[in-house]
Amino acid sequence: MRELKVTPIKNGTVIDHIGNGLALEVLRILEVHELDKDSTVSVALHVRSSKLGWKDIVKVENMELSPRKVNAIALIAPTATISIIRDSKVREKRSVSLPDRIAGVLRCPNPNCITNHGEPVESEFDVYRRRPVTLRCIYCERLVDEFLKLLR
Ligand SMILES: Nc1ncnc2c1ncn2[C@@H]1O[C@H](COP(=O)(O)OP(=O)(O)OP(=O)(O)O)[C@@H](O)[C@H]1O
Ligand SMILES: [Mg+2]
Ligand SMILES: [Zn+2]
Repeated sequence: MRELKVTPIKNGTVIDHIGNGLALEVLRILEVHELDKDSTVSVALHVRSSKLGWKDIVKVENMELSPRKVNAIALIAPTATISIIRDSKVREKRSVSLPDRIAGVLRCPNPNCITNHGEPVESEFDVYRRRPVTLRCIYCERLVDEFLKLLR
């Protein structure tokens, strides 16, 4: 049976199939506090999923995601799907995927890295390993496999 766990939205973005317990991190990435006051954000935690067992869902009215936010979600919640809703219909649906290079999303944990010295150098990582994801800073080669605390 088709069901919606929360109120439908007219325009906005649905981030579904988020790994159980990760919705709050996704909200942090979305910076929902910056949304206009008429936009509703719905969060469903611990929803039964045939694919994942349990999952979280986030629905945000009147927001479409920047590539930077999509990349950050791909790091934290690699199973997520992103659907764009326009006029109450799903106009576009895709899985998130990790690009080969991730610029401006994370800061480098190495305090001596040039990206942490007030120089006009944007942080940038390449993918060192995909499963599980490990990134490598292109400037200092530091390997990173924990992302939450490094999100910009
Ligand atoms: N008007 C709407 N408002 C809010 N959420 C919606 C709306 N229409 C669809 N959704 C949600 O968007 C997502 C994609 O919709 P779709 O109908 O493709 O889902 P589905 O059939 O459950 O597919 P799947 O779970 O395999 O991605 C689902 O999470 C669905 O609940
Ligand atoms: Mg579904
Ligand atoms: Zn570095």
